[in-house]
Amino acid sequence: MSETPLLRVENLKFKYQNTGGKGSDREVLHGLSFTVERGEYVAMLGHNGSGKSTLAKLCMMILDPTEGHIFVDGVDIADPELTDAQVLAVRKKVGMVFQNPDNQMVATMAEEEVAFGPENLGIPSAEIRQRVDEALKAVGMSEYAKKEPSRLSGGQKQRIAIAGILAMHPDCIFFDESTSMLDPQGRKDVMEIIDRLNREDGVTIIHITHDMNEAARAKRVMVLHEGNFVMDGTPEEVFAQPEKLDACRLTVPQCTQVMYRLKALGFEIGDRVTTPEDCAEAIRSLLGSGEVRHG
Ligand SMILES: Nc1ncnc2c1ncn2[C@@H]1O[C@H](COP(=O)(O)OP(=O)(O)O)[C@@H](O)[C@H]1O
Ligand SMILES: [Mg+2]
Repeated sequence: MSETPLLRVENLKFKYQNTGGKGSDREVLHGLSFTVERGEYVAMLGHNGSGKSTLAKLCMMILDPTEGHIFVDGVDIADPELTDAQVLAVRKKVGMVFQNPDNQMVATMAEEEVAFGPENLGIPSAEIRQRVDEALKAVGMSEYAKKEPSRLSGGQKQRIAIAGILAMHPDCIFFDESTSMLDPQGRKDVMEIIDRLNREDGVTIIHITHDMNEAARAKRVMVLHEGNFVMDGTPEEVFAQPEKLDACRLTVPQCTQVMYRLKALGFEIGDRVTTPEDCAEAIRSLLGSGEVRHG
């Protein structure tokens, strides 16, 4: 018995049309096929220009496929016969948080910003109030409800942007390098929210990132290279192949390499080993546990 995948992409090709100049009408996605099941936590890696944002925009119906199909919960989103109700249903299911929080803020008050999405979906106002309060609470921003977004830090703005998506009650959220412009605290806060949405609320996550340590927090890592998926597996499987990642111009931090190699050898290593200090601690505890004998 197999459930309909939340996202099914079939032979997806895409060309930007009429962009003029060099590279116009060049195909940037060359026939992608993959599925993402409900509740998955996927990290998408890829060097600049590999097509990650293009893919996300196609799944969000911001762009239309040149060829191939995208099914959201079984509905072909490029079908020209889709009714308005079907389009709205798809828009409710998939949300996206972008890289630059400043470009996402339109309202003068944080709570108005959060209400914007559900308003567009035609949700009754009493329910919007409740959704906004819940969403602000979920990202730890309740006390900022009346604040002006432009006065918030990057991380806080991004949390407001996430609340705006959450208020639409999506099944799936794309995060397109949503932490890359944030300071370390902002990144940490946003990463914790992403992890928790998946773990506790079962939200399907597709996290586009350059950061290997962030990618390692997902349960599945997909690597896009020049418009093709070249790797797809658990973080252990993907990070155990640094040469292949290198060929995609992605560098795995050395401590991550060491940890994944140890894991691949069967040693017990925690999931949150991301810094050289964590790495040293993990090795120390392996030595201490007698799992590794030195001498
Ligand atoms: N609006 C656009 N018009 C023309 N080409 C574009 C446009 N946006 C992106 N591209 C090109 O498409 C390719 C993939 O870009 P993109 O999806 O943004 O990659 P990524 O998000 O992985 O960095 C790149 O070669 C980029 O130059
Ligand atoms: Mg991008």
